Amino acid sequence: MNPLNHVAIIMDGNGRWGLRYKKNRNDGHKEGLNTVEKIIKETLKNKIKYLTLYAFSTENWKRPKNEINFLFNLLENFLAEKIDELNKKNIKLKIIGIKNFSEKLNNLINKAEKKTSKNKKLQLNLALNYGSKFEILNSFKELKKNKKKITEKNFISYLQTKNIPDPDLLIRTGNTKRLSNFLLWQIAYSEIYFEKKLWPSFNRKDYIEIINNYKMIKRKFGNI
Ligand code: FPP
Repeated sequence: MNPLNHVAIIMDGNGRWGLRYKKNRNDGHKEGLNTVEKIIKETLKNKIKYLTLYAFSTENWKRPKNEINFLFNLLENFLAEKIDELNKKNIKLKIIGIKNFSEKLNNLINKAEKKTSKNKKLQLNLALNYGSKFEILNSFKELKKNKKKITEKNFISYLQTKNIPDPDLLIRTGNTKRLSNFLLWQIAYSEIYFEKKLWPSFNRKDYIEIINNYKMIKRKFGNI
């Protein structure tokens, strides 16, 4: 059976769920947060060490202002209200992405990262204002600036995900098959699972089924 160390998730389908069931996209995001909590719980239960969630991309700034504000409020409340619970559960929180947020959010992030920095059971990476193309270009710029040789090891040392092993499994919900500028370098050998359900409808059972399927796949990494 394959070991499962790192699961990455593109949580797609909130907007469609909200429109379908509540006539409002933002209600889909709110419900999506409940799924986030369920999946964190199940990840802990399954002793998976890293969970990376795509919460906001560098392209999501194109969305209407009211949706952006709603998402960031949700996030601020999550960080303010849930950080003690995450800490008690021995979860380390890390934000990957460009950290140029409001002062309030920057403070919340710094406090949350600092408070949980020594936790060991699960590392929860929230990809926030994250874009893989930016990350890759930035890493090359850093190599040049620091006059480093272009090697895989040096390149990786400037990625946001340095010190985080590559995902074993990438799940995208929402019935679309694309990668949306997420961890393009890091998923070179990840197993990818496209789930039809919208993120707010995705549940514990669906997650376990994907995990169990993953465990049975023969991973070859280019070998035979
Ligand atoms: C993609 O669905 C989802 C997002 C851009 C936001 C994800 C945010 C959450 C699940 C809630 C907040 C999370 C945390 C960790 C605090 P979409 O809106 O693109 O869906 P659509 O394809 O149906 O429009």
